[in-house]
Amino acid sequence: MMSVKPRLIWLMLVLGLGLWLAGLAPLSAQESGPIAGAVPGNTTAGAAADAELWRMIRQGGDFTSNAQNPLAGRLIQAEGHGWEQTRNGPLAMYSAWALTGILILLSLFFALRGRVRIDAGPSSHTITRFQLVERAAHWLLASSFIVLALTGLNLLFGRSLLIPLIGKEAFAAMTLWGKYIHNYVGFAFGAAVVIVFLMWVWHNIPNLTDLRWIARAGGLMGGGHPPAKKFNAGQKLIFWAVIIGGGSLFASGWALMNPFETSMMAATFEKANALFGLSLATDLTPVQEQQYQQIWHVSVAVGLMVIIIAHIYIGSVGMEGALDAMTSGEVDLNWAKEHHSLWVEEHADETRPKAPTSPSASPAE
Ligand code: HEM
Repeated sequence: MMSVKPRLIWLMLVLGLGLWLAGLAPLSAQESGPIAGAVPGNTTAGAAADAELWRMIRQGGDFTSNAQNPLAGRLIQAEGHGWEQTRNGPLAMYSAWALTGILILLSLFFALRGRVRIDAGPSSHTITRFQLVERAAHWLLASSFIVLALTGLNLLFGRSLLIPLIGKEAFAAMTLWGKYIHNYVGFAFGAAVVIVFLMWVWHNIPNLTDLRWIARAGGLMGGGHPPAKKFNAGQKLIFWAVIIGGGSLFASGWALMNPFETSMMAATFEKANALFGLSLATDLTPVQEQQYQQIWHVSVAVGLMVIIIAHIYIGSVGMEGALDAMTSGEVDLNWAKEHHSLWVEEHADETRPKAPTSPSASPAE
């Protein structure tokens, strides 16, 4: 049998614990928010409590949850509203302006300047510009980029542009497949960026010739074509835009495919703060990290699309003789002398007479 003294101590301990728990109870109800005291739709707690509860849910309050997911305690991710407004507002609007802007500019340029012709006229010889492996890598890069651009633009503008034209059902099926294609083709694009980098980086290191080429605006303002090696300064800019922009697109695409597993934006903001004295927030929540990744991915993609649309123009309709470089790999010798004179000097032994036109092409006598 317990004597009186230990019983008294035991009683005091139990009382103390009881008082402590009683003191904690209202505190925990207060801490975990109105969800502990009021249930949506339950009017016994009064309309004010309900309104407060819903307001807290709407504004992204954190509750407690037994689910393992770290985000399960939040019923509504309120920053999503701001992100949605940015995505569907300025991001979509500036993207649309940038893409239509470059098309208008190029059309104006074509109307005013016309096709850039070979000044000296076609030669009787060609020179080997790109080997088969270079052309194959270029077309892997080009085809994957175009597929990514189209499926990506569908995600950004498809709802407003295509649903009125093809209806919701067709749009939903198309977009689902487009998303799968976008995710998988991203890897082909990433591989192509690496191959192109390894293949051409040596020819794209900036030098003094580039400064002279830029000073003469590539010959656009008249005064003949400035000398250039394998790639001129304009092409080097495109190369580095593709490598840096493409690398960044791959990284942000990876982050979007693996939500809440990376913190690249926070790390980038940290570096930007250190380098440029900025004060960007670096304690990003996983959801904010995703939102910044998405905005960055679209911005870089649209920037690169604008550059590549100009590249496609000048590599095809905009300039006589350019496309041969990426089809047969053999370019007209006069074209090469005009656009890449220093490169021709280095490769003078790689010229050959043009193949005679087939007899069936000449008129019958
Ligand atoms: C139908 C689309 C395209 C056409 C007609 C085209 C045409 C060409 C041509 C003719 C060249 C060789 C220029 C020369 O001999 O100096 C070239 C080079 C190149 N292309 Fe493309 N291209 C296309 C799409 C793309 C795309 C989508 C990318 C990247 C995403 C790309 C990236 C490059 C790069 C990095 C070079 C080397 C640097 C330069 O010439 O600017 N091309 N392209």
